[in-house]
Amino acid sequence: MRVTQEPVLRRFWYSTLPLEALRQRPQPFQLLGEKLVLWLDAAGRPAAMLDRCCHRTARLSQGKVCQGQIQCPYHGWEFNRQGSCVKVPQLRPEERIPASYKVPAFLAQERYGYVWVCLSDRPLADIPAVPEVEDPQFWRVHTYNERWDCAGLRLMENVFDNAHFSIVHTGTFGDTENPVPASFELIELEDGIRTHTTVPVKNNPLQRQNVGIPEERTLRIYEKNWMLPFTYRARVAYPNGLVTLIFMSATPIDDTASQITHFFMRNDDPAGVDADAVFRFNRAVAAEDRDILETTHPDVPLNLEAEQHMLADKPGILMRRKLAALIKAHS
Ligand code: FES
Ligand code: CO
Repeated sequence: MRVTQEPVLRRFWYSTLPLEALRQRPQPFQLLGEKLVLWLDAAGRPAAMLDRCCHRTARLSQGKVCQGQIQCPYHGWEFNRQGSCVKVPQLRPEERIPASYKVPAFLAQERYGYVWVCLSDRPLADIPAVPEVEDPQFWRVHTYNERWDCAGLRLMENVFDNAHFSIVHTGTFGDTENPVPASFELIELEDGIRTHTTVPVKNNPLQRQNVGIPEERTLRIYEKNWMLPFTYRARVAYPNGLVTLIFMSATPIDDTASQITHFFMRNDDPAGVDADAVFRFNRAVAAEDRDILETTHPDVPLNLEAEQHMLADKPGILMRRKLAALIKAHS
């Protein structure tokens, strides 16, 4: 699947950059091969449009924001969040701005501290829900938002793949002595999948401290959710009552790269937790996955004959089937 060649993927919301990244200046962002400019309007709401001025094609992301409008760095034309040109400094008082002075604009809104963008004005689904964000029991640990050179589908499959822990996560929680993957219950949902699985883990010293379980070996009791096309949310419970929430989305930049948004929450008392240590553990796990995912082929085949599979790949196989059905239904 080449993501830029599947128009139905334009009809989903994707997380792009943290809202904070737009406070100082507009930012470029590439989504499904489209070069966009993101900025904040006068009300502080994110706006998105093509990063190409309709006058002489200069990159608007190199310009600046004037009272909430984006100003082109070349001749200073200004555009509102709908993409309409609202100021042309060169015009004489008797001249009017032609309605054709317009740049394609896209839906943009803030959620969970990130700027979400949809390239279609008819999204097929809302921004994925994360109920824990509204739950006062949960607090958030700052994690990351960055580019990985891999397909989003590879990452989605990876987080459901119990078979790689003992091989890839040897520095963090993988148990090298137990390569047979934990079994799981797989549930098909209309817009994704859910699995329930209990995974024996062997925690490194940092994670033993983070979860408050001094023993090396413990259990992770997962409820994992995948939401079409590239969003993952998991609740991970530990035997001592700690519950954590992992959110990951893989926004397709182009056919070979994804912008990964990751955030992490937990239900205990933040005063008793070293948030930096939690951050460092999450980074270490991500680095292990990233190292391997960036070696995989970005054109993930939806045709199941093209790669070989084992039992633990069932969630990924269902993802491929659901993506193929989505593409077929909209072609
Ligand atoms: Fe943008 Fe001229 S190129 S105003
Ligand atoms: Co992994």
